[in-house]
Amino acid sequence: MTLRTLDSLGSLAGKRVIVRCDLNVPVKDGVITDDGRVRASLPTLNALINQGARVVVVSHLGRPDGAPDTKYTLEPVAQRLSELLGKPVVFAHDTVGQAATDAVAGLDDGDIALLENLRFNPGETSKDEAERHAFAEKLAAFGDAFVSDGFGVVHRKQASVYDLAELLPSAAGLLIQTELEVLDKLTENPERPYTVVLGGSKVSDKLGVIGHLLPRVNTLLIGGGMLFTFLKAQGHPVGSSLLEEDQLDTVRGYLAKAEELGVTIVLPADIVVASKFGADAETAVTAADAIEDTPFGASGLGLDIGPETAAAFAAIIRDSRTVFWNGPMGVFELAPFAEGTRAVAAALTEVDGLGVVGGGDSAAAVRALGFSDDQFGHISTGGGASLEFLEGKRLPGLEVLGWS
Ligand code: 3PG
Repeated sequence: MTLRTLDSLGSLAGKRVIVRCDLNVPVKDGVITDDGRVRASLPTLNALINQGARVVVVSHLGRPDGAPDTKYTLEPVAQRLSELLGKPVVFAHDTVGQAATDAVAGLDDGDIALLENLRFNPGETSKDEAERHAFAEKLAAFGDAFVSDGFGVVHRKQASVYDLAELLPSAAGLLIQTELEVLDKLTENPERPYTVVLGGSKVSDKLGVIGHLLPRVNTLLIGGGMLFTFLKAQGHPVGSSLLEEDQLDTVRGYLAKAEELGVTIVLPADIVVASKFGADAETAVTAADAIEDTPFGASGLGLDIGPETAAAFAAIIRDSRTVFWNGPMGVFELAPFAEGTRAVAAALTEVDGLGVVGGGDSAAAVRALGFSDDQFGHISTGGGASLEFLEGKRLPGLEVLGWS
């Protein structure tokens, strides 16, 4: 079966169309610090508005606990969406209550409303199918059709992602289509050399993808907090750096498997070690196998890959024809530990082929470091979703749209 796309819904003029977007953007003191996911939602929303549909946008933001929490309100997102669309966006202060009912009832052809955070309702993420379904039914009452366009949540079996798609005529939006076209290129005959760069803090988040990718890639570059579990697995001291002791055996298994398959796993040769976690820490660059030999001894914290490693990673990336990158190389939010991530991002912009930034933290990192979206082959809006896709997992939010 193939993905049902927008055209399968026929003319949507005058129809109420619920669109599930992933507008889960970082917000600080009520201000959006990276609006990438809002911008990525525009093509579908504009297509629907231009057809004269009455558009009802739903999304989550953060992980509130099934109850309203002003910290996670979508109100700033409604404002940004309105600026980007160049037209008013009616914001409903609840998701399925009177405010939402009134907002939807008040829409004219070509109008758009955004309902309050789906996760203010326990039914959205409930593990109880009946509770989840009951919430989806309330949402379904607002629409004649459903467009799923939140690629970042297709790995979640949640009311607005899965159940709603079963209750109304449904199809994927343009963002999901684009994401799948690009990610498909990474799984079906990628041009070689194919390099995957993994960073971020936790090895445990990346285990599935490492296992699945090992037989498929030529080179795997490891940075970020997870690299210390790799170094420790090789028998090196890591000071007070992030370490997942319970993953050591698995990591040893991957190192052995890579050797057997002839895949190169490249670990950093040098590390930026800090006296403490903070932008004002003292720092030293040391060989990766001598982290405890700095003046900070065993209390030293590795917070970035070193300059030699950054240059080596950049050279491998530039020489590849296909690159997928997920996870910062260091604590890029703090200037002294941003250079590894900057070097990887810069090299990715120079790939002669396909260079993909895999969502979440990495997408935020490239924008925070001053790169623009059009410098990359593709910036995925899905962190966990793109990793699970590359792991070859079945994703409920895609299966319900006919994808198999
Ligand atoms: C993300 O940020 O990866 C998506 O918005 C999904 O969010 P979640 O991990 O809270 O489900």
